[in-house]
Amino acid sequence: MSGTVVVLLGPPGSGKGTQAKRLVEVLGTPHVSSGDLFRHHLSQETELGLMAHSYMEDGELVPDDVTVEMVVERISRPDCEDGVLLDGFPRTLNQAEALKKALANRGHQVTVVPLIQVSDDEVLRRLTARRVCEACGAVYNLVFNPPQEEGVCDVCGGDLYQREDDDPETVNHRLYTYYKETSPLIGYYFAQDLLVEIDGEQSFKAVSEDLLRAIGEAAKES
Ligand code: AP5
Repeated sequence: MSGTVVVLLGPPGSGKGTQAKRLVEVLGTPHVSSGDLFRHHLSQETELGLMAHSYMEDGELVPDDVTVEMVVERISRPDCEDGVLLDGFPRTLNQAEALKKALANRGHQVTVVPLIQVSDDEVLRRLTARRVCEACGAVYNLVFNPPQEEGVCDVCGGDLYQREDDDPETVNHRLYTYYKETSPLIGYYFAQDLLVEIDGEQSFKAVSEDLLRAIGEAAKES
């Protein structure tokens, strides 16, 4: 892995997935989302997917050992040799240390950690209105970027569904989990001078521009 390693940090619903899809078009690196990997396993009904599901539906984190193994295997593949955009991983200090070790084994390191900041109220507003295409994974929002035709994906015509962990009670628990388990990473990456705060409550375009600027500057310095 010789290129840029970006770790997108932020609460659930801060726009990590939406922005990652835009950023990789510019950066040309793969987008690796631990949540998407778990959902893929679940759709294939693998043992890992079925195990992860019991945590995901409750808004809890999947245990570190299986999560680390799954993501490290993914980023060890040849398409990640020139860099990767990580979304949703790491999410605990143990995962962050495991990532550091896995990268160091190849002589690499995290380049930058953009922290997408969004208020709890906004998270709740966004996630309860999120819809996802079951065919191509495109993400919509009934308030901020609705599909042209209700329930139908603009990109591929697939059916839109609501994620089962996007009900208000589970979103609140996911926020609790974020503050308890993931927010310590803010101090961890700040201490390594890798953290860049991004205002996630701006327009989609303004958030993309801030992210690209932050990543570009960090890549130049590294
Ligand atoms: P995961 O899939 O990673 O969920 P998450 O981190 O909670 O993030 P989301 O996918 O909900 O939100 P997002 O930030 O990507 O926002 P989005 O772009 O969709 O994880 C799910 C579960 O898997 C976890 O709870 C856990 O159980 C497990 N898991 C995953 N990784 C793990 C790990 N490392 N360790 C252990 N367990 C793990 O945007 C949200 C909505 O807002 C959309 O509708 C979008 O259109 C809208 N929106 C986005 N940007 C804007 C904007 N600027 N203005 C207005 N609306 C916007």
